[in-house]
Amino acid sequence: MKIIGTGSAIPKKIVTNDMLSEFLDTSDAWIYPRTGIKHRHVISDEKLEDLAASAAEKALENAGMKAEDLDFIICSNVVNEYVTPSLSCIIQGAIGATCPCLDINCACAGFIYALDIAESFYKAGRVKNVLIVCAEEPTRMTSWKDRNVCVLFGDGAGAAVLTEGDNIKGIKLSAASATDKLYQIRTLEPTPYITKEEESISLQMKGQDVFKFAVKASTGDIKYLLDKLGMAAGDVDHYLLHQANIRIIRSIKDFLEQPDEKFPTNVETHGNSSSASCPILLDECNRNGIIKRGETIALSAFGAGFISGAVIMEW
Ligand code: ACO
Repeated sequence: MKIIGTGSAIPKKIVTNDMLSEFLDTSDAWIYPRTGIKHRHVISDEKLEDLAASAAEKALENAGMKAEDLDFIICSNVVNEYVTPSLSCIIQGAIGATCPCLDINCACAGFIYALDIAESFYKAGRVKNVLIVCAEEPTRMTSWKDRNVCVLFGDGAGAAVLTEGDNIKGIKLSAASATDKLYQIRTLEPTPYITKEEESISLQMKGQDVFKFAVKASTGDIKYLLDKLGMAAGDVDHYLLHQANIRIIRSIKDFLEQPDEKFPTNVETHGNSSSASCPILLDECNRNGIIKRGETIALSAFGAGFISGAVIMEW
């Protein structure tokens, strides 16, 4: 398969570090050096499903494809207002597609996992055209009284249209269960039979553990693929990494011993938008000509679980 179109949509509300310091004991002087984040886009009057549909429509337009030509939609999403129906089903109706669709929750690694699922469909000869949409509102998962977590995230949607081709060189998925490091708990509806204690807990994170996992997993996944493909780090033209923290990106860059120019970033202006991060960055790099057809690119992401994944492809 190959990616022939990209799109993204982000909320209009921009929240700067200075705005956060109006109601939190924090500052730009703390946030920026530790994370690389200057501001983030936060959902206000938008609905995530509308951002998702908008990203999908832009990707279809970029690919020169109509929604009715899609054979499958995969949507990566951790949380949205609907528990059911699936977000992919809502997107399907909004863009006028008629194909089957599927939601996955693979935290921030969702785009890579979605690519792997799509690749399997292509190898089985079941699809010609696939839409992947990653839509996330992590700002609704955090407590906005918790400066440890809420300053890190932003919302948005990114999408990619795939068609038949031979551009994927390799995909590596990993998982290492560690449920106390990064988690959120929601209570369900009560029943007359529930006797256990339950409480909702906003997104909790052991930041330094997550940081170490992120660097280890991402460098491990990329190195695995490079070795398997008989490639050196220098053979990859651009590394598009999950935009969680500029220091994580720099650590991976240092491990790979590659120059800054190979690591485009947008964490400065978007924060961490979970699984939407990679496809939003991909769309920006596609539209502003940073990545060019025929180049080799690598994407790598990590998230709650822990899970991670990387892909190397010809663009
Ligand atoms: N403003 C001011 N002070 C803060 C803030 C804040 N926003 N947040 C935490 N602090 C304080 C803490 O209370 C703590 O204070 P204490 O030492 O008095 O207890 C101190 O700052 C912690 O400072 P550091 O240990 O220096 O923080 P660190 O360098 O570890 O940076 C950070 C924290 C940015 C969270 C870092 O650990 C990190 O980026 N981890 C990875 C996070 C990440 O990538 N998460 C998402 C990945 S998975 C996914 O995408 C869902």
